[in-house]
Amino acid sequence: MSRDYRLLVKNAKQVVLVCSRGEKYLTQHGMQDLSVIENGSVVIGRDGLIKAVGPAETIAAQFADASFDKVINATGMCVLPGLVDAHTHPVWAGDRVHEFAMKLAGASYMDVHRAGGGIHFTVEHTRAASSSELLASLRDRLVRMQRAGTTLVECKSGYGLELQTELKMLQVIEEARRTLPINISSTYCGAHAVPRGKTVAEATENILQVQLPRLREHMEAGTLKVNNIDVFCEQGVFDLGSTRSILKAGKDLGLNINFHGDELHPMNSAQLGAELGALAISHLEEVTDQGIRAMAKAQTAAVLLPTTAYILRLPQPRARDMLEAGVIVALGSDFNPNAYCCSMPIVMHLACVNMRMSMSEALAAATINAAYALGCSNTHGSLEVDKHGDLLVLSSPRWEHLIYQLGGHQELIGYVVVKGNVV
Ligand code: NIG
Ligand code: FE
Repeated sequence: MSRDYRLLVKNAKQVVLVCSRGEKYLTQHGMQDLSVIENGSVVIGRDGLIKAVGPAETIAAQFADASFDKVINATGMCVLPGLVDAHTHPVWAGDRVHEFAMKLAGASYMDVHRAGGGIHFTVEHTRAASSSELLASLRDRLVRMQRAGTTLVECKSGYGLELQTELKMLQVIEEARRTLPINISSTYCGAHAVPRGKTVAEATENILQVQLPRLREHMEAGTLKVNNIDVFCEQGVFDLGSTRSILKAGKDLGLNINFHGDELHPMNSAQLGAELGALAISHLEEVTDQGIRAMAKAQTAAVLLPTTAYILRLPQPRARDMLEAGVIVALGSDFNPNAYCCSMPIVMHLACVNMRMSMSEALAAATINAAYALGCSNTHGSLEVDKHGDLLVLSSPRWEHLIYQLGGHQELIGYVVVKGNVV
């Protein structure tokens, strides 16, 4: 075995593994009882994978003869898994700050949408933008997320609503994946809204007959890697029937189902997701008890988005009811022009204060469970041997500072590490 390793993080006051028995996800009981090592160290190999994690003395003895490309002395500091953001819309052009004023003055999300703002405004600007403009702004946003501790992020298309722009967005995401350290799970979201002047039936037909077949060609040729399929299942957007046919077609392509449901109205999206074997459903502010039970049974994760409920003053997602029913609860920032938040620490803070999650539950939701929602929890989401060496080193003596502090995270997060490299 090689004696050369990429990184040693030693003598941390706390190493929060999150879980340590190869769990794919955690439900309520496990989320309340995270694995933590007091005074621990972590070793990451040159392949970027975790080689050892344990008590500092054990690691020191075991690796006494080893050499490391880099050593971080984490005395008095904490180590946590890199954060996972399970829901973002980070590729777009056109500033929508003016809509925030409209919403503060009382307009609802759908009032703005119907007035030609919202997604339609962004679609117009994103169609007109060049790939290089979109890539430049995507990079800036991903770097901001990374500085706030995110090391794996889901990125959606969905501001094209026609073949050319949807492909442009997915290619931009692919280019970011190739050139930036942050891990990306990409999502085709061509059914994010019904294009202006089209009916739901026409939009659905276009996705099924034009967009998905071209996507298949690209995926088969290896020119695009796409992981998930998403639909905005909502009154006035895609109804249950069209959502079902689009998600099923995506699943046939090998994509994970991960969609927007039960956000503004109860649509029985949760039941549909459970029926189709969805890996995750996002939002769920209006989910019913029956929907919650169906998701728990189907092991479909609930990706809760506290920023959206906060900005739109929606009812809070029922995190406690979901946890008690055994649902796999995950978190996402929903970064988009409506909810402009790149920070998972702020998302966790809001989840605790507004959705009444505990700090341990919020951290599990933003690591192992968010990784599960993206089909990546075998490689990401906890500090376990053979997983990716993605971690954060906090300058505080207790890990809870990451959630407790509302802002100032750049000073708190001393290092962000992806596959053993400080980024
Ligand atoms: O998740 N609900 C639908 N989509 C986004 C909003 C996108 C937008 O307003 O541009 C969301 O909140
Ligand atoms: Fe969204």
